[in-house]
Amino acid sequence: MCEPRRSIAAAIFALLCMGIASASTTVVHDTTLVPYTVVNGTIPRSLTAVPGNPAAGLAIVKNRKLGNCIACHSMPIAKEAFPGNVGPNLKGVGGYLSVAQLRLRIVNAKLINPDTIMPAYYRVAGLTDVAKKFVGKPILTAQQVEDVVAYLSTLK
Ligand code: HEC
Repeated sequence: MCEPRRSIAAAIFALLCMGIASASTTVVHDTTLVPYTVVNGTIPRSLTAVPGNPAAGLAIVKNRKLGNCIACHSMPIAKEAFPGNVGPNLKGVGGYLSVAQLRLRIVNAKLINPDTIMPAYYRVAGLTDVAKKFVGKPILTAQQVEDVVAYLSTLK
C-alpha cells in the first residue's frame, strides 16, 4: 500500500534535487538563436566572436525602432529629448553591473525578474503578441546585443 506512494515521493524528491542542482546553470537553446548559458544571473560568454562596438550600441539604444531603451530609461546621452522613467536611470550602470550581468539583462531580463516589463531583446520562443515582422526573429541580433552591452559598460 505504502510502497507506490513512497516511490512517488522518491521520484518527486529526485526531480527537486535535479532542479536545485541545475538552478544556477541553464543552457538555453532558442530555435534560431546562438545558444548561450546562464550562470548565476549572468551570461559569461560573448554571443559572438566579434567584440561589441560601443558607438554602434549607443546608436541602437537611441533608435526608436531598435532598442528604444530611452522609452523607459534615462541615459547620459546629450540632447536626448523626453527619456522615459519607467526603468532606472542607466547612468553609472557599467560601474555596478558586470558585462556578464548586462548581457543577461539585455538578452532576457525576465530570467532575472519574471514580472519585468523590459522586453527580452534576444528571445524567440515563448513570446505572445509578436508583431509580424518579428516572428521568428529576436528584436536585436547577437552582434547588436554585444554592441549594447559594450556601450552600457562604458557608463561608469
Ligand atoms: C518597456 C520599458 C523598458 C525598455 C524598453 C527597456 N527597459 Fe531596461 N529596465 C526596465 C525596468 C522597469 C527595469 C527595472 C528592473 C526590472 O524591471 O527588472 C530595467 C532595468 C534595466 C537594467 C538594470 C539596471 C539596474 O540598475 O539594475 C539595465 C542595464 C537595462 N534595463 C538596460 C536596458 C537597455 C539597454 C534597453 C534597450 C536595449 C532597455 N533596458 C529597454 C524597463 C525597460
